Amino acid sequence: MQRKPDLEGFIAPGSRAAELAVRLDLTRLPRHVAIIMDGNGRWAGARGLPRVMGHRAGIESVRDTVECAARLGLEALTLYAFSVENWKRPPLEVRTLMGLLQEYVHREIQTLQKNEVRFRPMGRLQDLYPEVLRDLRWAEQETAANQGLLFQLALSYGGRAEIVDAARALLAELRQGGEGPEAIDEERFARHLYTAGVPDPDLMIRTSGELRISNFLLWQIAYAEIWVTETLWPDFRREHLIEGILAFQARERRFGGIVSMPAGKGVQGA
Ligand code: FPP
Repeated sequence: MQRKPDLEGFIAPGSRAAELAVRLDLTRLPRHVAIIMDGNGRWAGARGLPRVMGHRAGIESVRDTVECAARLGLEALTLYAFSVENWKRPPLEVRTLMGLLQEYVHREIQTLQKNEVRFRPMGRLQDLYPEVLRDLRWAEQETAANQGLLFQLALSYGGRAEIVDAARALLAELRQGGEGPEAIDEERFARHLYTAGVPDPDLMIRTSGELRISNFLLWQIAYAEIWVTETLWPDFRREHLIEGILAFQARERRFGGIVSMPAGKGVQGA
């Protein structure tokens, strides 16, 4: 649910975040921001550290970004933490990432509750280690009644895999109801995506300067504005999120039409 922004006590006066925040048009915030968190390995490499230290440092960025999104009153934030392809990484890195997820939910549960954040893992969750999935489900249940930001964490996630999963679920439903292919339209298809019921992202952010979508939310980003920052994920903080939103607000969204619409006033699916 989109709530009133409440940055009091969160943004330090005189900070860069404060300088940027005053330029925000709080009536035209994106409803949903999606972020491809990238650059952890490079961040660690630049410091002569093992790659996993970059992931560990990235948790602080997750914490700051989630709280900032919640304080801004955004409706949804989706972070890409682990792709279906990431299982091909060295076993130690995979194990460390899984352990960090467990550590994150236990350490952050109070902050999530305080900020009324609803936590929701999404992806091919059946592929995760059972003890990791158990902890993620625990955090999901603990925060299920919260009324603020929906924080979706994409895990064992692939945009194509999601579309295939949706097609399978939809086909099973059609068979059961004795319906044919003419019963399929975009709206019905989208009801079978992991993100069913969540507005599509208005803004997609990618860190570390790469200009790729990397199989993230392929269906949902049809009309998203894309903003890429050179900042590596472990250095990403509230001021970067605000900077991305300012860039979004400077764009004109046309949704395939001719009449322009200021960013933040778009009509879902229009
Ligand atoms: C991409 O950087 C990042 C990931 C594959 C993992 C993202 C994970 C975290 C930020 C930490 C865990 C998150 C939570 C919520 C506990 P990369 O390793 O591909 O970086 P590189 O491109 O520089 O090698």
